[in-house]
Amino acid sequence: MKRMLSGIKPTGSLTLGNYIGALRHFVEYQDEYEVIAFIANLHCITVYQEPKELRKNLKDAVALYLAAGLDPQKATIFLQTDVPEHAQLGYILACYTYLGELNRMTQFKDKMAKGEQNLTAGLYSYPCLMAADILLYDPDYVPVGDDQKQHVELTRDIAARFNNKYSPTFKLPEPLSAKVGARIMSLSDPSRKMSKSDPSNNGCIYLLDDPAVAKNKIMRAVTDSYGEIRADKEKQPGLYNLLEIAASLSDTTPEALALEFSGKGYGELKKYVAEVVCSSLNSLQERYREILANNVIEDVLKEGAEKAHRIAYKKLATVSRKVGLEIR
Ligand code: TYM
Repeated sequence: MKRMLSGIKPTGSLTLGNYIGALRHFVEYQDEYEVIAFIANLHCITVYQEPKELRKNLKDAVALYLAAGLDPQKATIFLQTDVPEHAQLGYILACYTYLGELNRMTQFKDKMAKGEQNLTAGLYSYPCLMAADILLYDPDYVPVGDDQKQHVELTRDIAARFNNKYSPTFKLPEPLSAKVGARIMSLSDPSRKMSKSDPSNNGCIYLLDDPAVAKNKIMRAVTDSYGEIRADKEKQPGLYNLLEIAASLSDTTPEALALEFSGKGYGELKKYVAEVVCSSLNSLQERYREILANNVIEDVLKEGAEKAHRIAYKKLATVSRKVGLEIR
């Protein structure tokens, strides 16, 4: 069975972008692949997190993984810090990563360009930790949204470099992103990715948003003045984003939806998108509440960490031996 691995960094409540671009794929693939889905808590603290809020976000993220349909009998679900090999291999891989490579990472470059102050070394070197997250498990595929593809490409480069220097050690993973929904944009500014750090509160839908609030955000979404419903990403990015959101959640394509709505008004399309989104949020939130009430999270994480650790410690031991870190 091929293996698939991915993670989410809950620096806030998970977003509709996380769900459409990543989480729903973990669930889709769990029957066909061995899925390893972890919560990247070390990645969260590359930017300061209020401890109480972080704890809540981590727990919510696990509950949302389960609510989305990840089945702990099939998938391995764990917290990154419960498997210390991630941090250990992350350090080792940092010693095989060039500064020039980290300088090219767009996420870091964007933050620098915006003039953000006090960026940390943790944030800068985080692609090395992400490479470790992946390479510890030799996955075949890494399902991610578009914004994370560059990090998976770097992971492949680091793996190939290590393999060439020593001997074949790591499998080179393939990033996997869907044709539809790999980059959901902000509802208030369709030139920006929908993200937890959206400056406008109306641009981002959170999976735990009250559905009435989510509906409001969709009804206020920025569109254009063409007045015609077409699936034209270049000319009508706001409208296309709405089509893409609804299409991803209802297994169709933006083009097919645009045809269905051709000749109708933007308001009507927005109402439909809101219905589709709210129906997903309603069922997700219902299961989320059940999961919290059933108190299953700690057991799921404990079992997941044990399974993950059994794979990770072997890989770290191999790497340490090849590098010459051991005296035996
Ligand atoms: P993070 O937490 O920023 O995002 C988690 C996943 O959600 C996807 N995503 C989106 N997809 C479509 N549209 C959007 N607007 C959108 N926003 C986010 C991301 O592409 C990602 O797939 N570094 C990673 C977490 C990580 C990881 C890993 C992922 C750590 N180690 C190993 C894969 C493998 C991150 O910050 O993702």
